[in-house]
Amino acid sequence: MRPYNRILVTAALPYANGPLHVGHLAGCYLPADIYVRWERAKQKDIVFVGGSDEHGVPITIRAMKEGTTPQAIVDKYHKLIKESFEKLGISFDVYSRTSNVIHHETSADFFTKLYDDGMFEERETEQYYDEEKETFLADRYITGTCPVCSNPNAYGDQCEKCGSSLSPDQLIHPRSALSNNPPIKRKTKHWYFPLNEFEPFLNEWILEGHKEWKNNVYGQCKSWLTSGLQPRAMTRDSQWGVKVPLPNAEGKVLYVWFDAPIGYISATKELLPDTWKQYWQQDDTKLVHFIGKDNIVFHCIIFPAMLKAHGSFVLPDNVPANEFLNLEGDKVSTSRNWAVWLHEYLHDFPGCEDVLRYYLTTIAPETKDSDFTWKGFQDANNSELVAVFGNFVNRTFVLMHKLCGGKVPPLHLEDMDDDDRNVFNEIKRTKHQLDVLLEQYKFRDALFEVIDLARKGNQYMQKKEPWIKAKAEQLNERNANGIIPQNSIDNTLHVCLQLCANLAVMINPFLPHTARKMMHMMKVVDKMLDWQNAGKEKLLSTGYSLRAPELLFRKIEDAEMAQQVEKLRNPHAKDIVEEAKDEIVEATIAPIKEEIQFDDFAKLDLRIGTIIAAEKVAKADKLLRLSIDMGNETRTIVSGIAMHFSPEDIVGRQVTVVANLAPRKMRGIESQGMILMAEDADGKLHFMQPANNINNGSTVN
Ligand code: MF3
Ligand code: ZN
Repeated sequence: MRPYNRILVTAALPYANGPLHVGHLAGCYLPADIYVRWERAKQKDIVFVGGSDEHGVPITIRAMKEGTTPQAIVDKYHKLIKESFEKLGISFDVYSRTSNVIHHETSADFFTKLYDDGMFEERETEQYYDEEKETFLADRYITGTCPVCSNPNAYGDQCEKCGSSLSPDQLIHPRSALSNNPPIKRKTKHWYFPLNEFEPFLNEWILEGHKEWKNNVYGQCKSWLTSGLQPRAMTRDSQWGVKVPLPNAEGKVLYVWFDAPIGYISATKELLPDTWKQYWQQDDTKLVHFIGKDNIVFHCIIFPAMLKAHGSFVLPDNVPANEFLNLEGDKVSTSRNWAVWLHEYLHDFPGCEDVLRYYLTTIAPETKDSDFTWKGFQDANNSELVAVFGNFVNRTFVLMHKLCGGKVPPLHLEDMDDDDRNVFNEIKRTKHQLDVLLEQYKFRDALFEVIDLARKGNQYMQKKEPWIKAKAEQLNERNANGIIPQNSIDNTLHVCLQLCANLAVMINPFLPHTARKMMHMMKVVDKMLDWQNAGKEKLLSTGYSLRAPELLFRKIEDAEMAQQVEKLRNPHAKDIVEEAKDEIVEATIAPIKEEIQFDDFAKLDLRIGTIIAAEKVAKADKLLRLSIDMGNETRTIVSGIAMHFSPEDIVGRQVTVVANLAPRKMRGIESQGMILMAEDADGKLHFMQPANNINNGSTVN
């Protein structure tokens, strides 16, 4: 690794078009904050920047739907998001927003520099345009039938049913998602960034130069690079965003993924108007981007290529992206309101900010997707934070008050035994482990080490039983082992107190609120939390009087969890929930298609058949190859249902088949027709089968 003298940490700028949920926190903001707090505690020169991503089409659509302006939408969510971060202790040095003037200037200047260098290629293309809404349509806002699986609600960029990535031109019967009208084609001009020209640089820089990046990150980069990069339009037709800084570019703005990452630069400028360049333009900066996996290509490929093209900026040293966090076994879905919203958590569990930080770190999706469950949350709190960490600290303080007069007792060196010494060794070992793990962005393992240290404290205390020794009558006389009982009690509590102080220092990056409470109990200043104190045997001086214990964590009851689960399954009326519901209607109840005549319908030949064999199609996650007994023949049908059903579960089922659909080849297999599936509001598929088993070949009229 290059030697560096300062660190610049960024966390993905969240879109200000909705609140944040636990997945965002676990995937990106929490690891970033832990890392930053750890480096800060080491007195490193470090800056942590963030802000809201306030441009992009979804924000304009949301405004349109709510009959308000994009600015009103982003004002509302920027505030909500910022508050959630503050309450959870995500310690940004600056939390900015891309609608700020400084950002518009910074990103426009960036564009201009590339433009002046002749970097962009100007291209005129035909794009879909919604005449009623008088707007060009982003790929996402064109829907139509998927050419691969016939899903009627595929998007212009992707079919969510079969996972094929699409371009709007491939959709059959395209419709505008805004007006539901068929869009027309219109000519438009855009500026393309030649990503392809940066392939050699990226290959070298990532594939050769950054083999140490996390597997999930390196792997994704590699697959993008091997499939080859294409020039990308860096401008869009819209009124909302950073205006393209060129003459005759009315109605054009920078592509949101062009301006958003520049937001990191703008935010740094806002924080450090005089010295920001040191962080962005001096080679001895270590730049780290924390993001979720859906942002990998933008942070590892597109933004670095932009930085490289510009020429004055440092490139990221690492991009420790996380995978996704699921919720109770299902993908988080904001439109279905299947999410635990941060502002709601903060409302429902006041004072439990660190519990969420703790649980999310223990289940962080660092190497693969992971699952948030309320049961897991409760267990983490009750059997780890309360029963292990809180219990150890509390017992230590209670006993110190009871047996040592509320003061740090002396350590009698002559009466120290192996158990005492072992605790000190464990403290040192843990500190060393933490340094190794945190350096590698292994936050989850690091946190386990801290809890494990507290667990060892409990075991030590249990073994020493100072409360029993205290019952011995003559505390000042040596017992049969030649040890004075009071000395042994002193030693135990001395060791436990030093361990508590160490735990405070070590837990601080993870659970800052808890660390502060512990500082208060120990009557020491926050300076004690300096990382250089971790591992030390003498953090608290003998004779120093300490406060009574405070409750660090409270037990979380079954009833509270039942309420949360209930809320998840039956969201109650709150405005945010209401908004989400609007989206559900839009998103999942497909609009009625244009009217047809009976003759149109009569053209369909629908028949009942039975699936007699099913197998996965090689290299196509979504496709099953079905053999269907149609009564007089057996048909092969390729169907995009593999994500919903496993082959062995559907053999024997009756299905409805469109029997006169022209055959089509998919993955080299000829599909002779298609089977009908009903889709519910949750996106689950259900077979259309007759109420009773009937003869294969029966017609449906
Ligand atoms: N708003 C994007 C998202 O939520 C992330 C933007 S990160 C930035 O996926 F680098 F572009 F700012
Ligand atoms: Zn499809």
